[in-house]
Amino acid sequence: MVIAEKILKTGGLAGITAGQSAICTVGLMGQGLNYRGFGIEDLAASCTFEEVAYLLIYGHLPNVSELAAYQQQLCQLRHLPVALQQCLQAIPKNAHPMDVLRTGCSFLGTLEQETSEHNQFVIADRLMALFPAMLTYWYQFHQTGNDLDTAVTDLSLGAMFLHCLLGREPSALEAEAIRLSLILYAEHEFNASTFSARVTAATQTDFYSAICAAIGTLRGNLHGGANEAAMDLLEKFTSPEAAELGLLSMLANKVLVMGFGHRVYTTHDPRSDIIKPYAKALAIATGKESLYLVAERIEHVMMREKKLFPNVDFYSAIVYHCLGIPTAMFTPVFVMSRISGWAAHVIEQRANNKLIRPASDYIGPDPQVFVCLQDR
Ligand code: COA
Repeated sequence: MVIAEKILKTGGLAGITAGQSAICTVGLMGQGLNYRGFGIEDLAASCTFEEVAYLLIYGHLPNVSELAAYQQQLCQLRHLPVALQQCLQAIPKNAHPMDVLRTGCSFLGTLEQETSEHNQFVIADRLMALFPAMLTYWYQFHQTGNDLDTAVTDLSLGAMFLHCLLGREPSALEAEAIRLSLILYAEHEFNASTFSARVTAATQTDFYSAICAAIGTLRGNLHGGANEAAMDLLEKFTSPEAAELGLLSMLANKVLVMGFGHRVYTTHDPRSDIIKPYAKALAIATGKESLYLVAERIEHVMMREKKLFPNVDFYSAIVYHCLGIPTAMFTPVFVMSRISGWAAHVIEQRANNKLIRPASDYIGPDPQVFVCLQDR
């Protein structure tokens, strides 16, 4: 099939290869996820999130001293500039936290503009360190009126985020769950937001613009917003029986069930298999086992009725909920992680750049005779 026919048949560029990348493979032969050749299971079992981010952005697994220096660097970059604090204070309390991050990223781009010295690697590190700080500073300022000190220096990025959000050090289980979740969300090849970042970067614009475009793209329900939508769904049901009835009705009405299905994976999402036990453990630890039982029933019904499996967003929703993260912050947590993948892709795009400008199949009217305004 020629490419144009294939696109028309599938829509949404499904199955179309849109470029080359050495960063990640998703669903090779229908399954599996690798970051720079390393299986997600190995990375999830052994690495810190910072180690994985370093791998993605700098292209190799850090050795002990590289990782220590990187972690220290990220800790030192957690201070919010005063002007950015003021900007965050001015963003309304009822704003969506994704808009807070998009605005914070854009504003930072005016304060710390990209130059040959303040280069893409410096900015990638800065955004990695600052996204959790922006989010929690804005949140605490509007919730408690407190001017939060985000310069907590001795915790990993995920633990620092929970510490600033919850006002206490996370437990071992909580710290482990957020570490794992950040690793699972870090990178996913040419997904919509990453592709958006690459398209933007390919025009030779600045680094911040590419990341702002990615944040805006991730916000939608068919992409990163699915974890928030999955939580909204889970909270509708008080028992597995009610969930089954509700799901059957949704499917009969052709309503999309958020957190299920995937454009690339065909049999299962390996990230869901890794996060699911943590959803169970946290649900039990926080007395929310009924939520987990509802989720399991939904998974069962979706497989039985539609042969659809949960993607990473479904059980991540329970994990985040049990960690005490407000639902509107689920997708922003995704940003805190995916900035590593986006940065890697922008850097890769720039290294061998070509403007991304596809063509469309014209389906409008044939050439027409133009009639002046006064004669129409
Ligand atoms: N709930 C119900 N039905 C679904 C579904 C879901 N979550 N995902 C796919 N389907 C159905 C579609 O309705 C379609 O049915 P049809 O052939 O009868 O029309 C069929 O499965 C194929 O789906 P399609 O939309 O063509 O697949 P896609 O590759 O375009 O979509 C997603 C992939 C991820 C956009 C899609 O599965 C979806 O919308 N999922 C929910 C949102 C989500 O969880 N996103 C996060 C992805 S990580």
